[in-house]
Formats: sequence, C-alpha cells, structure tokens
Amino acid sequence: MNIETKFMGLDIKSPIIVGSCGLTSDVETLKRIEKAGAGAVILKSIFEEQILQEMSNNYSMSNAIEYADETYDYIVAHTEKQSLAKYINLIRSAKEAVSIPVIASVNCVSSSQWINFATRVEQAGADGIELNMFVLPSDVNLTTDNVEKFYENVIHNIKKVVKIPVSVKISSYFSSLARFAQKLSWMGIENLNIFNQFSKQDINIDTMTIEPANVFSSPNSLHKTIRWTAILANVLNCPITAGGGVHKPQDIIKLLLAGANTVQTVSAIYEQGTDFIEESIAFLKEWMQKNNFESLGDFRGKLAVEKNNESSAFLRVQFMKYFAGIK
Ligand SMILES: Cc1cc2nc3c(=O)[nH]c(=O)nc-3n(C[C@H](O)[C@H](O)[C@H](O)COP(=O)(O)O)c2cc1C
Repeated sequence: MNIETKFMGLDIKSPIIVGSCGLTSDVETLKRIEKAGAGAVILKSIFEEQILQEMSNNYSMSNAIEYADETYDYIVAHTEKQSLAKYINLIRSAKEAVSIPVIASVNCVSSSQWINFATRVEQAGADGIELNMFVLPSDVNLTTDNVEKFYENVIHNIKKVVKIPVSVKISSYFSSLARFAQKLSWMGIENLNIFNQFSKQDINIDTMTIEPANVFSSPNSLHKTIRWTAILANVLNCPITAGGGVHKPQDIIKLLLAGANTVQTVSAIYEQGTDFIEESIAFLKEWMQKNNFESLGDFRGKLAVEKNNESSAFLRVQFMKYFAGIK
C-alpha cells in the first residue's frame, strides 16, 4: 500500500500534515510527529501582532523613562530582531531534528515588512512557507475588492522574493469563495490550505463578560471542509490541503475522497496525542487494502464536484429537500 504523495511540490511519505499550532514549536514534539508518520509539519506561526506588541511594550517603557527617539528606534529594531531570531532558531532546530519537510508559517496582517522576513525564513532552511492570512471583514469601509487585494498583494510580493514553495491558508469568509480561491491558485502558489480557524469568543451570562471559547475544533466543522474541498478540487490550479474538524481516522479518507491532496490535523493531536497519526495511517492502509486501492491517486477526488456538473450533492444547500419529513 503506497500512501506517499506530494505536498507543496515536495515528496512526502504520508498525506497527514500536522498544522501550525503551539505543539509544532517544540522540537521534541516534532520528533514524535515524524516518528508517528506525518508527512510534513507546519511550524507555529510567527505573528505580526506579536512583534508589534513586543515593540509597543518596550516603547511604553521607553516613554516612561524618557528615552530619546533614537533609543526608540533601537528598541524597535532590537525587539524585532529578538522575535525573528527566535523563530529562525526554531526553523534551524526543527530542520536538525527531523527529516520530514518543515514549513514555516507567517501570520500576515499587512503586506510590507513580512516580505523581507520571508527571505530569512528561506535562508534558515525552511522547506516552504505558509502564509496564514486573515482580515476579519468587519470594517464597513472595506470593500470586497480591498480585502481580496490584500491577499493578492502579499502573495505577489512573497513570490517575488522566495524560491521555496508557498502555501496560502485562508478562511471561508469570502463572498465568492470559489472564484477567489481559483484566482489565488493561479498566482503561482504551490498549495492552498483550507481553512484556517480563529480564536472564538463566548459570553458569560453571569458576569456578562466576553470569554475565550474552546480553542479546539468541533468534529462538526468537518462538513464545511468536506464540501469546499469537493467544490474546489477540480477548479484550482494548485493542490489542496484540507483541514478543520478532523477528529477520526475516517475523516482523513473522507477529505481525500473529496479531492484533498493532503489533510491537516491539529485539535486531534492535542486531544489524542501523536498516536492519532499512527492510528490514522494504519486505518488508511487497511481501508485501501479492503477497497483494492494501491495508491492515493486511485481514489483521491472520487467524490469531488466535477467541472460544470451542477448535480453534485455538495452543491445542494436547502434543508427542505432532505428534511421535509422532519417536523
Ligand atoms: C492551540 C492552537 C493554536 C493554533 N495556532 C495557529 C497558528 O499559530 N497558526 C495557524 O495558521 N493556525 C493555528 N491554529 C489553527 C490550526 O492550524 C488549524 O487550522 C485549526 O485548529 C483547525 O484544524 P483542526 O480542526 O485539526 O484543529 C491553531 C489551533 C490551535 C488549536
């Protein structure tokens, strides 16, 4: 049973990718992830806000003791260097510790400074870079065009400066998701990762305050991921990594059948440990054997929406047809 495939143009030994999260910033965990059979790993994102935050903390401190302006510039440069240096070290240590592809992840909220950082990521030996991009479309002054241009500019600029493959991780918050995803896929990116998920909030009705909600995904998010994987699989110009809601070994097979090239998992690793990867690989091989599939290509995309075929179940959205009998 051959479960080898490609991810961002790189050869990998299994279609399971451990996505960006706190676990992937620890080298010992990376070794366990590799041993369990993951095909590749995406490091914890370096956040633009994180650096800006560190810079502004130091700035308030500098204000308090009345530093001169040049000192502020020095602090900004120093802090930025420290955070970036830490991340570069993580890439280097990860590359020394494991032989599976190590993908760096940059969380971009603007399209300027990060571009230069990408070249340092490349020099540090990262096998690829994932752009974890998100603009919450909450600003009433932002048009669809403004939002989409931001993504396009970042990709355009990054592709100009790095030679390593680029993956783009997007959310589903686009008014014309299929058209936009297709547009991005033609910008020379090597992978589209659907979907990123964000910190969620809840409301405590006793204290009437906002609280963080559970950070892990719900198994129910899988259905959205399945649908969009199936819809996008045959219309993009790059492969798809599908993730969000993978909690059982069966979920990985579902996403491959929907047309994913690789499948990303995070919450399941937090909740079940790296055993989840081993169990999923064993399950996948057993299932392939039972169904006489020799390789992933034998069944990948079997249930994807075919081009110009409006009859796929994934395109039906109304409850009525299916649940007419439910009162
Ligand atoms: C604790 C935690 C930290 C995360 N940190 C990041 C991050 O730094 N960058 C990123 O792109 N995604 C991050 N994610 C999102 C995951 O990569 C993934 O997209 C999301 O959890 C959905 O996948 P899942 O259903 O397998 O958990 C994080 C998720 C969790 C639970």
